[in-house]
Amino acid sequence: MEKYYVTTPIYYPSANFHIGHCYTTIIADAIARYKRLKGYDVFYLTGSDEHGQKIEKKAQEAGVTPKEYVDEIVANAKDLWKSLNVSYDKFIRTSDEEHVKCVQKIFKKLYDQGDIYKGSYSGLYCTPCESFWTESQLVDGKCPDCGREVNLVSEEAYFLKLSKYQDRLIKYYEEHPDFIQPESRKNEMINNFIKPGLEDLCVSRVSVNWGIPVTFDEKHVVYVWIDALSNYISALGYLSEDDTNFKKYWPADLHIVGKEIVRFHTIVWPIMLMALDLPLPHKVFGHGWLVIDGGKISKSLGNYKDPREYINDYGVDAVRYFVLREVPFGSDGTFSEEALINRTNGDLANVLGNLVNRTISMANKYFDGTVKNTKVTESIDKELIDLVNDLDSNVEKKMDSLEVGYALECILEVLRRANKYIDETTPWALAKEEDKKDRLETVIYNLLESIRVCAILLSPFLPDTSESIFKQLNADNRNASFDSDSTYTNMKNEILFARIDKEEK
Ligand code: MSP
Repeated sequence: MEKYYVTTPIYYPSANFHIGHCYTTIIADAIARYKRLKGYDVFYLTGSDEHGQKIEKKAQEAGVTPKEYVDEIVANAKDLWKSLNVSYDKFIRTSDEEHVKCVQKIFKKLYDQGDIYKGSYSGLYCTPCESFWTESQLVDGKCPDCGREVNLVSEEAYFLKLSKYQDRLIKYYEEHPDFIQPESRKNEMINNFIKPGLEDLCVSRVSVNWGIPVTFDEKHVVYVWIDALSNYISALGYLSEDDTNFKKYWPADLHIVGKEIVRFHTIVWPIMLMALDLPLPHKVFGHGWLVIDGGKISKSLGNYKDPREYINDYGVDAVRYFVLREVPFGSDGTFSEEALINRTNGDLANVLGNLVNRTISMANKYFDGTVKNTKVTESIDKELIDLVNDLDSNVEKKMDSLEVGYALECILEVLRRANKYIDETTPWALAKEEDKKDRLETVIYNLLESIRVCAILLSPFLPDTSESIFKQLNADNRNASFDSDSTYTNMKNEILFARIDKEEK
């Protein structure tokens, strides 16, 4: 069985997760589920990136230890993923003992072979806050947290030799044109970071406590990126006693990351892997951001809601559908409840829900819920059946190029065509003529089969809805092509998506 390894970034558990975090996780989930549907042996990894000064400070403010602080947020995140039907195979935490040991071994190995060296780091330091800031982070030249003076300070630190691998990295990009997607992000990396010359990366700190200690120099902790990026292999048991998963799933097929961290995934991570003599991931996809009112989602701006509120108000599949369909993968997109309602009403209630409801009601009304293919065909049937039979490969093409929203649009197109087919064949008129009964049954049969095939292909995106359609159809054939010789019986009719009243909300 062919394997497929897909990852999300590991999120900072500095505060509870918002709809922006859900965005990446739902897309990765749809991709993972789709690959499972296609018969792949999938490993879907997500998790939390727990170390660092910010979390240390938050915990201090809350009067708890950093571990206690992140434990609570991680428990909340896992609950959120459960309510969104996220089918991850593993949730890695950078505080996991296995991860800590793996990072320590990686750090030591890179140091021993000369890829990590000791130097000195200088930066703008706020003493009361114990934080380093970059020039651009300062507000009016002062610490962005407390508004006090910052000083230029140097401290001993370890560095990773990125510069040594620059030429190999460029060669890798050239030989693997699909490595970074979309294409525009690759150009950004080459022009903004690689061409000006790669600077070595600071990979340890003495001023941070909440982190993984460097084994051979205990006053240092591993700083941010070596710790975080290693999760993709530590989660598979790399350098541990049981590395079966590592042997089976590495290299990753797809790392999905937000656009602001593409740099670390396409420059630092490949270089770390080259230094470790490991194969590189096949693809890094840098997606855009989900924005609210044109800006980022944040608690302080007051535009943050617990995503469970949207799930409770509109249903899990309405939320999943919105993020998968509304935003072209790669670009920024706007999240608003109004747009969510419009999508749900327009596509899910009017197109999908209406089709399923109308079809099953007619099957029950005209045929007591038992429908077979009487094969009284007319030329109009062919167009619908051909569309249904092409759907599997059309969706596959879109998923292969990671155009998740367009994959959904292919399914919607068939559903819209099926609704139009009802209007064209006018079953209610056929029902009035005794000698058209067989033709009527063929029409209903064609609709039921179309719905069934769409429900299979919808399953990676809207898992609950897909199951509910299968229950209503009382069907179990999961083959995504039109079956001419089946029988439908004992169908139940339930509302899939009620229209949401905008005013009421
Ligand atoms: N911990 C690092 C990633 C390490 S991966 C080895 C990190 N964490 S983060 O919590 O700040 O962000 C994680 C991911 O969430 C990023 O890919 C980021 O782009 C994504 N998002 C955070 N807010 C988002 C939106 N509003 N919209 C879309 N994605 C968002 O960076």
